[in-house]
Amino acid sequence: MRILVVGGAGYIGSNAVRQLLDANYEVVVLDALYSGHRKAVDARAKFYQGSIENKFLVSQILRHEKIDAVMHFAAYSLVPESMKNPLKYYDNNVGGMITLLEAMQDAKVNYLVFSSSAATYGIPQTLPITEDSPLNPINPYGDTKLMMEKIMHWADKANGIKSIALRYFNVAGASMDGQTGEDHAPETHLIPNILNSAVRGDNKFTIFGDDYDTPDGTNVRDYIQVTDLIDAHILALQYLIKTNLSNVFNLGTEHGYSNLEILQAARKVTGIKIPYTIGPRRNGDPDSLVADSTKARTILNWQPQHENAEDLIASAWKWHQTHPNGYDD
Ligand code: UFG
Repeated sequence: MRILVVGGAGYIGSNAVRQLLDANYEVVVLDALYSGHRKAVDARAKFYQGSIENKFLVSQILRHEKIDAVMHFAAYSLVPESMKNPLKYYDNNVGGMITLLEAMQDAKVNYLVFSSSAATYGIPQTLPITEDSPLNPINPYGDTKLMMEKIMHWADKANGIKSIALRYFNVAGASMDGQTGEDHAPETHLIPNILNSAVRGDNKFTIFGDDYDTPDGTNVRDYIQVTDLIDAHILALQYLIKTNLSNVFNLGTEHGYSNLEILQAARKVTGIKIPYTIGPRRNGDPDSLVADSTKARTILNWQPQHENAEDLIASAWKWHQTHPNGYDD
C-alpha cells in the first residue's frame, strides 16, 4: 500500500514514516518544512515540499503517486502559541483539513488517519477520559482539532471518506535507536525542556504552577511513547481498510504523572540533579488529563510497550544527548 504522510518531517510524522517503511508500506511525504526537518525524513520515502493548503499540489501527489491512504500530522500543535495567535491555528489546521479532504475527494482516496488530541476534551469532569466524555476545548488548538474531527465526520457522511481520529494524550520519547526525536523551535514541551536543561546545565527549567487541584499541585498528564503511538496508527489504518468504518480512539497509557514526578524520573534516568523553579501558571492548562484507552486496546488490539515514565524518558535522553542541537548537528 502507498501512504501519503502529510507532516512527515515533524516529530510524530517522521517517526510514522520510519515505522510505516519498516512495516513494508510505501511512503510519500508532503511537508511544508514550517517546523519540520528535511533531515528527519527517512531516505527511503519520497519527499515533496509544500503546504497541505495547496489543493492542486495535494491532488497531484495523490493521483501521480497512486496513494491508497493518508496520514495527517500537519497541524500546528502548541497550546500556548494557539492562545496568543488563534487565527494562525484556525487557518492552517481547519483550512488544511478542508483542502486535504477536497483533494482526497477529487483523487478518490477514501482513507484518512488523523492526529487529533486530548485537548478536544477541555477540563474533564471525570478521570480517566473516555471517548464519550464531553468535548469542550479550552484553548484554540483543541478547538481546531474538534472542528477538524467534525469536518471529517461530515466528509464521511456526504463523500464516503472514511477516517480515524486518534486523540493523543502527551506524546514524548524518541525512536528506540535515538535517531528520530523532538526538535521544536521554540521548545515548549515538558520532557524536552527538562532534558535540554540537563544537557545544557543552564538552570532554566521552570514548572508552570504548583497550585493546581492535583496531589502535588502540579499538572498531571498521561505520557505516551511516540513509537507506541505510531503502532496504533498502523493498527488504525488496518482497521479502517478492513472495516470501512470511521471511528475515534484515545491514545494514552492510562497512567497520570505530575510535572514534579516527571522531573524526578528525569533526574533518575540522567543522573543529573536538574534544578527547577516554580513559575506562574501557563494559560490553557487543564489540571489533569489521563486517558481511558480501553477502546484502542480492545478494538485495535493495541498494546503500548512502554508504560512507565522512566522508559520513555530514557529514549528521549538518548536523542537529546546525541542531538543537543536537534537536527542541526
Ligand atoms: N510544563 C512546565 N514547564 C515547561 C513545559 C511544560 O511546567 O517548561 C508543563 C505544562 O504547564 C503542563 C505540562 O508540563 O502542565 C505538559 O505540557 P506540554 O507543553 O509538554 O504539553 P501539553 O499538555 O500542553 O500539550 C500536549 C500536546 C498537545 C496535546 C496535549 C494533550 O502538546 O498537542 O498534550 O494532553 F493536545
